[in-house]
Amino acid sequence: MGHPMFEYDAAATQAIFDYCRERLQMDPVPLDYGGLAPLPYDELATLITAEGRPAGEVLDFFKHSLAPAVVSIDAPNFLAFIPNSPTKNSLLFDMVVACSGLNGTSWLESAGVVVAENQALEFLAQRAGLPEGSGGAFVSGGSMGNLAGLTVARDVGRTLRRELDPRTVRFAISADAHSSVGKALHVIGVDALLVETVDHRFTVDALRAALAADPHPETVIGVVATAGTTNAGIVDDLEGLGAYAREHDLWFHVDGAYGGAAMLSSSERAHFTGLRHADSFVVDPHKWLFAPLDCAALIYRNPTIARRVLAQQASYLDILHSADDEHYEWNPSDFAIHLSRRARGLPFWYSLVTYGTEAYESAIQASVDLARRAQEMIEALDYVEMVRPSSLSIVLFRRRGWRDEQYNEWSHQLLRDQIAFVTPTKWEGETVARLAFLHPGTDEDLVRRILETMRD
Ligand SMILES: Cc1ncc(COP(=O)(O)O)c(C=O)c1O
Repeated sequence: MGHPMFEYDAAATQAIFDYCRERLQMDPVPLDYGGLAPLPYDELATLITAEGRPAGEVLDFFKHSLAPAVVSIDAPNFLAFIPNSPTKNSLLFDMVVACSGLNGTSWLESAGVVVAENQALEFLAQRAGLPEGSGGAFVSGGSMGNLAGLTVARDVGRTLRRELDPRTVRFAISADAHSSVGKALHVIGVDALLVETVDHRFTVDALRAALAADPHPETVIGVVATAGTTNAGIVDDLEGLGAYAREHDLWFHVDGAYGGAAMLSSSERAHFTGLRHADSFVVDPHKWLFAPLDCAALIYRNPTIARRVLAQQASYLDILHSADDEHYEWNPSDFAIHLSRRARGLPFWYSLVTYGTEAYESAIQASVDLARRAQEMIEALDYVEMVRPSSLSIVLFRRRGWRDEQYNEWSHQLLRDQIAFVTPTKWEGETVARLAFLHPGTDEDLVRRILETMRD
């Protein structure tokens, strides 16, 4: 007889499976209300007891009282921030990962996980044009990917430039880099050379001009480019910046957390050829590669260097590093700032393998096409106008005559009415409307409906 918490409970299992089946069958899933919904504080206050409660009862409470207070990020009418639209198979396999005690820390413990995850990473590295031997690990998100990549970049730069005071080294970044890049630099204690750009695109000319105007250009040890800015979907000049970085021995980090997936889109592919220069590259399967949260791919051109910087050393871990052959010593935990690790790359791997690459390509293309179509629809109306051309799957536009509060009120009303989750953003100081497409099930009718709500 085991401990009651470890005994199989057929009724609880059935209830959970039924709930998951119900969610999987929804087409589409309900948007729900997020922070606009009332929360059951009174019931929550007495929920945890010494004796526990029946599993089915607590599931019901979750289903009816908590779940509606979460905007479903996988709803096709979730167009705010950067959505996340996991495929059915990726969701199913996430359950497998949860139920099979799959650890993803080291080769010794989990070679079967590591080879599969590495296959998915290799696919991404190949499409990015990175050389054979590139590799890394799946981490929890783009923010952690940026932090790990830039930590390696910092140490490599300091080693290469021993003549510099290590406290003075910097990375060249543009103001449109994601906030997590600024946060990563703060954490690792490195300053930025903030490069001014034309129309928010970081180009090699902008980099050259910034370096020429800077009193200490020699302290710049790396360049951070964005392959799809979060706010506007702009892909930096990867080819120019990457070639410059290579020529001048600078680390080239590419943050493609959101937009990197568009390297698989036939119409956008050409903007991504410069990925081949990357020393570190981040792309999030939990964004535009249709995997469940939390899953970001972090790939290094030279994983051996990353391992030297990031692998944790401790006597109880020595056995993980004892193999002679590098291949058999592939510990995902060595490539980022983490140790114990969920096998979070597997739902993406399973989805990619089961649906095939063409399904991925067409699903990504669908959002790019819809963004262009939305632009045409906006251009055909007199009360709205584009702020700039759509880029990747992002559309920025303004409602003529609206003030800031009107955008916020409109956003809340759309959610209250369960039409869509759309949030405004700021563009050059002005509050504007923003649509971020990601779910291949989002269609023109929804865009039409949203635009209609902005009419007087
Ligand atoms: C370009 C870019 N980088 C980094 C991030 C952060 O990714 P995460 O939320 O997975 O940490 C985002 C998130 O939207 C992003 O768009």
